[in-house]
Amino acid sequence: MRDFFPGLAGIPAAKSSVSFVDGAEGVLEYRGIRIEDLAKHSSFLETAFLLLFNRLPTKRELDDFTRDISHHRRIKYRIIDLLKSLPEQGHPMDALQAAVAALGMFYPAHEVLDEAIRYLTAVRLIAKLPTIVAAFARLRRGDNAIRPRDDLSYAENFLYMLTEQIPDPAMAKIFDVCLILHAEHTMNASTFSGMVTASTLADPYTAVSSAIGTLKGPLHGGANEAVIHMLEEIQTLERIPEYLNQKLTNKEKIMGFGHRIYKVKDPRAIVMQAFAKQLAADTTTQSFYTLASAVEKHMDARVGPKGIRPNVDFYSGILYHQMGIDTDLFTPMFAIARVAGWLAHCFEQYHDNHLFRPDQIYEGQRNRPYQSLANRETSSS
Ligand code: CMC
Repeated sequence: MRDFFPGLAGIPAAKSSVSFVDGAEGVLEYRGIRIEDLAKHSSFLETAFLLLFNRLPTKRELDDFTRDISHHRRIKYRIIDLLKSLPEQGHPMDALQAAVAALGMFYPAHEVLDEAIRYLTAVRLIAKLPTIVAAFARLRRGDNAIRPRDDLSYAENFLYMLTEQIPDPAMAKIFDVCLILHAEHTMNASTFSGMVTASTLADPYTAVSSAIGTLKGPLHGGANEAVIHMLEEIQTLERIPEYLNQKLTNKEKIMGFGHRIYKVKDPRAIVMQAFAKQLAADTTTQSFYTLASAVEKHMDARVGPKGIRPNVDFYSGILYHQMGIDTDLFTPMFAIARVAGWLAHCFEQYHDNHLFRPDQIYEGQRNRPYQSLANRETSSS
């Protein structure tokens, strides 16, 4: 009998130097640097550079990278036309996936080992994802897409393109930290999906569009959106015990809790919770934060000892809700950040490629006779 590992749990799929996670201690490092330090001192673009090139940039390198990203933020009118042609009730993750696949038709990048093409591809993807997400968010409401502004930072510019207002600097800073915290997370499902695609030597646009499709599901990035739907369903503090009890008894998953690797509270959730708490003190979103922290307390008592704790999607969902962002944009905002990590892994894959082609354990029948159509009145065995 061959060993079988459902979900490949615990099976290394690659050797990597992009990030390190210790799920028992709650440690996450990008290229050896703790995420708490990056959240405190870095910016998303500096962190993206670190992930892509395995070192912090010099001042000159960061200036050049920032300038290149700003320069490539615009998207072609044909991508805007593509977004306009999609159903407005469709999910923004599907729009993002379609637009990213289409980008690859405008900017061929089949030379996956060419350093210059690779740099430009990374710059274009990091630069254009926010523009695509913001454009679809506006076009679906009948508004025009807003052109990016080169004088705004990466985080400011995205919030500006969504609302046509220069964001409050504190809000832009919080969003930038969220981007840092979402930028990378070892061998998760979407990264693996992107790497499988990259291992066929498909170009990075195709690999990233695969990863976006995988991120969408509620067991992965889509959980941040599902957290808000859950809290809206719970509504009041009084309803929490009954709601959780019913779900847990029926063996249903509570969104924003649990993780394949972390058995303690996700270190990213800790940083985000601090911001959510700060925003709750300043704004009218106090009741929502209070509801969320009460859910955490109840979950802690019920399933905490089993290692089921809040993950990144619990508090990112709360934060983005507090920032007044449409719920179905939360997962695309996750993708805007995670593209840096996806690319870093795909570049490792291209460099030392081996086609992903796992095996299976066949459990079906063999050597069945072919029955002609006339003889198939009852279902054949
Ligand atoms: N709520 C209730 N029970 C849970 C949860 C949860 N959120 N997560 C795990 N469990 C229980 C599960 O029922 C099972 O119990 P038992 O051993 O009694 O059958 C046990 O824990 C193991 O669960 P599993 O699903 O086999 O474990 P996994 O390693 O496959 O789970 C997970 C990882 C993320 C799929 C799961 O925790 C989950 O579905 N969580 C909710 C969705 C979510 O928040 N996803 C975001 C993940 S983190 C960031 C990201 O990837 O985007």
